[in-house]
Amino acid sequence: MVLLNFAVDVAKEAGEILLKRFGNLKSSDIDYKGRWNVVTTVDTEVERLIVKRIEKEFPNDGILAEENARKRTDAERVWLVDPLDGTVNYAHGLPFFCVSIAVAKGWKMEAGVVYSPCTDELFYAERGGGAFLNKRRINVSSTSDFSKSLLATGFAYVRNETEHNNLANFNRLNLKVEGIRRLGSAAIDLCYVAAGRFDGFWELFLSPWDVAAGSLIVEEAGGIVTDIAGGDDYLFGFNIVAGNEKIHDELRRNLEPFPERFRFKLS
Ligand code: IPD
Ligand code: CA
Ligand code: CA
Repeated sequence: MVLLNFAVDVAKEAGEILLKRFGNLKSSDIDYKGRWNVVTTVDTEVERLIVKRIEKEFPNDGILAEENARKRTDAERVWLVDPLDGTVNYAHGLPFFCVSIAVAKGWKMEAGVVYSPCTDELFYAERGGGAFLNKRRINVSSTSDFSKSLLATGFAYVRNETEHNNLANFNRLNLKVEGIRRLGSAAIDLCYVAAGRFDGFWELFLSPWDVAAGSLIVEEAGGIVTDIAGGDDYLFGFNIVAGNEKIHDELRRNLEPFPERFRFKLS
């Protein structure tokens, strides 16, 4: 509970800053890490705050955060932080963004929090303790008819650099299900699976901080999270499939195999 409560407090503090600066960005606040990979001064400011809090409270823990902080990732316990998931939305004034904080032991998530400040929705879970949205227990959907399922996905910033751009998957599935949404925040997508709003989610080239908290929240809400091959290499393997247990396998089997050579590198 100590880790979860700490993560909740920090996520709420971070969310307040995100909300305060939302809609007030100047062009000098926006920069690019890649062709389409936007970073704002808010991403870095919020990350600094979260990292400072973790360092003060748990000085021996490791940190893997998106923008700058990467230290002691071989520590027994490591925090995975995405200070602002949905930066493109944020920069365009769209309300689908959040802060995501998770803590892992041996890269197995112990606790995870995703806070969406525009909707004031706090999703959280602790391993073995169930998943919650604003103090109410949440569960994945019970949809069993794949053709009636509502899915979510996204398209990576590197989509112009690889043939694995997810378009063939999208085209195939778009003809088989009720709908596919593309919200622009992987952490929110996963939480919406946990809350039963989406029946399933998949994406390619996500980084560990994108999926760390959300994957635990889905599992604790009774859902299944795997890689496309059906294994558990979704944290570093750049491919993830999440869903309720009735449609997860069918979703997975409709996706192209993803090559093992693409991996997130810790060093
Ligand atoms: C991105 C979002 C988006 C996903 C991208 C991620 P960011 O994270 O989660 O939904 O499609 O691949 O990188 O850059 O906004 O933190
Ligand atoms: Ca992200
Ligand atoms: Ca981010």
